[in-house]
Amino acid sequence: MFTASQLLDKINSRISEIQFARSPKGLYAPVEYVLSLGGKRIRPVLMLMAYNLYREDVSSIYDPATGIEVYHNYTLLHDDVMDRADVRRGKPTVHKVWNDNSAILSGDAMLVLAYQYMSASAPSYLKEVMDLFSLTALEICEGQQLDMDFESRSDVTESEYIEMIRLKTAVLLAASLKIGAVLAGAPAEDATNLYNFGMQMGVAFQLQDDLLDVYGNPEVFGKKIGGDILCNKKTYMLIKALERADEKQHKELKQWLDVEAYEPDEKINAVTTLYNELNIRGICENKMREYYTLAMKSLEAVGVTEEKKKELKNLVKLLMYREI
Ligand code: IPE
Ligand code: IPE
Ligand code: MG
Ligand code: MG
Ligand code: MG
Repeated sequence: MFTASQLLDKINSRISEIQFARSPKGLYAPVEYVLSLGGKRIRPVLMLMAYNLYREDVSSIYDPATGIEVYHNYTLLHDDVMDRADVRRGKPTVHKVWNDNSAILSGDAMLVLAYQYMSASAPSYLKEVMDLFSLTALEICEGQQLDMDFESRSDVTESEYIEMIRLKTAVLLAASLKIGAVLAGAPAEDATNLYNFGMQMGVAFQLQDDLLDVYGNPEVFGKKIGGDILCNKKTYMLIKALERADEKQHKELKQWLDVEAYEPDEKINAVTTLYNELNIRGICENKMREYYTLAMKSLEAVGVTEEKKKELKNLVKLLMYREI
């Protein structure tokens, strides 16, 4: 059995070997650029780890593992256009280096490339893998649409938020694990439990992403701190702040949500100050712990030895306390 960091090295070297012998350069250069910026690679690592619970020959699923990472990076190209985000992984985003049209079209190409990699899965599991991958890709579009819809609403509920992040983020972590299990020929019940584990971990993962967007260390986070505040993203933190604010705080928060012309840093500071007053960080961390506990329960139900689950448990803990 391999450690998470060994699997990370393996998939990183696989991805770094990718070269496109096709033209035009303008289409493929942004793809090579975004893939060269690294990132945590957690989705392919999760796929390999789930596979490795049952089988040792991890190299036989490098293609689908690469596919899930290429797919994830495609979502980032489009997400950064949608969120008007200028920095990712500490570097200018594709639409900043090139332009919006490049981010859209190179993103489209990456979605197709992801399908090519994914469809190199073992023929006996191909239909199951592709069905899950396609459903997941559609769910992510649904989550991203909800995320955009919520920007112009101020009555988003906690359960609407959880459903939105389940769709935009958690299902991909869940599918990564399940595809790994399916390709290893794991029992169906294990594959389902690993899927649920990924889903619950994914909700905690997005809660942490939202938290870091406000409280992250700008030196390491790699994205602009306060980006969600500027977009009026209905994060768990904003929903809780609106819920817990007294009359004066509520009025101030609403003013910041409604104002059209403002100094970006002033808005970020004012909203962050309100979060601090309302202890929103602690509330968000409690919610993350709730989903972490649920995830651990799902992992408990997977029918492999405790010893084999150790790596996954450690990884989830690391992700919960991550700074990037
Ligand atoms: C960013 O994903 C998008 C979210 C779902 C929060 P990651 O945090 O996995 O980004 P990278 O791939 O490590 O850069
Ligand atoms: C990203 O959510 C979800 C997808 C990319 C599908 P965010 O918009 O919060 O991700 P970051 O913060 O830009 O990485
Ligand atoms: Mg974004
Ligand atoms: Mg987004
Ligand atoms: Mg984010």
